[in-house]
Amino acid sequence: HIAANNARESLYVISQYAAAFFANELWTGEQGRAIGLSYFKERGFREDIIRKFELGYSPDQWDALLLSAKAAGHQEEYLSKTGLTVHNDNGRIYDRFRGRVMFPIHNFTGRVIGFGGRTLKTDKNVPKYVNSPESDIYHKSNVLYGLFQAKKAIRDADNCYLVEGYADVLSVHQAGVENVVASSGTSLTVEQIRLIGRFTQNVTILYDGDAAGIKASLRGLDMILEEGLNVKVVNFPDGHDPDSYMHRVGAGAFKNYIENNRKDFILYKADILLKEAGKDPIKRAGIIRDIVESIAKIPDDIKVSVFIRECSHLLQVEERMLLTELNKMRSAKF
Ligand code: UTP
Ligand code: MN
Ligand code: MN
Ligand code: MN
Ligand code: MN
Repeated sequence: HIAANNARESLYVISQYAAAFFANELWTGEQGRAIGLSYFKERGFREDIIRKFELGYSPDQWDALLLSAKAAGHQEEYLSKTGLTVHNDNGRIYDRFRGRVMFPIHNFTGRVIGFGGRTLKTDKNVPKYVNSPESDIYHKSNVLYGLFQAKKAIRDADNCYLVEGYADVLSVHQAGVENVVASSGTSLTVEQIRLIGRFTQNVTILYDGDAAGIKASLRGLDMILEEGLNVKVVNFPDGHDPDSYMHRVGAGAFKNYIENNRKDFILYKADILLKEAGKDPIKRAGIIRDIVESIAKIPDDIKVSVFIRECSHLLQVEERMLLTELNKMRSAKF
């Protein structure tokens, strides 16, 4: 086990080295300042936020990190094992991240375990984000971006805001709402929900206001309910995500918006589904079933009865009918 721990330790060390290298390039490199830092500033990110999240820049050349790390005495083996370098078919070794702004990903104790890198090009053929591959220290389904910076605020607020992306975490944080994390680079997992559950039982989903974001919100809220946590959802207008909306309306208005527009999951689902169904009675019956399906996932019977009552009021259906439906679903499950 000692050998295994040492090998893992070497991966942490090289990851921290890389984060420091990218940050140094951003703040002092000629290319980094002209391209990377000015990019962040144009997006409206403040310097204190850029520093707090240790953002960086990977120079647009094949081997900037590789050469620097080797010169500092690091072995290529560890760059390769963390995916910071890649090998092509001819055995050539080069940097994975080139000409991108860099978002280091920390575990919740604050150690760097991976990276996301955003392109500065608008070319549709270039992937917008490149992420570190899985490694012995980075298992993306177990990681929440921003948790290290957010965990104290999550406990204090007894609530965790959940967003889609790196930029959303930065902007929400910058608006003064520090209890925010992202399931970046993967769709929400049960492990990530359990990780949140160590700090609070209350989650508020702030996904993008587009079709994909709404779909992910519906999936996410069912998963969160199933883990026994409470969930609310905020929807953003006109396809905005939290980042674009915060910069659009400003920090104060953004905070007010997320405070005043969080809907509990029943109301959120009812709003979306009723809009689709209109007055069609068959479709409306489908909605009732759909909402009861979410309620049926909640493990706590007291919460279930509270939500059944709410649903009954909201949709003007008798509680008894909803309970019959609920019990059918529960017995079908076991
Ligand atoms: P979005 O496409 O919503 O990007 O993906 P974004 O965060 O709003 O990007 P900006 O604002 O243009 O910078 C949300 C998240 O999904 C992951 C990233 O974690 C991203 O932040 N993603 C997205 C990838 O991993 N790869 C991609 O190519 C795109
Ligand atoms: Mn492992
Ligand atoms: Mn999106
Ligand atoms: Mn987005
Ligand atoms: Mn965005």
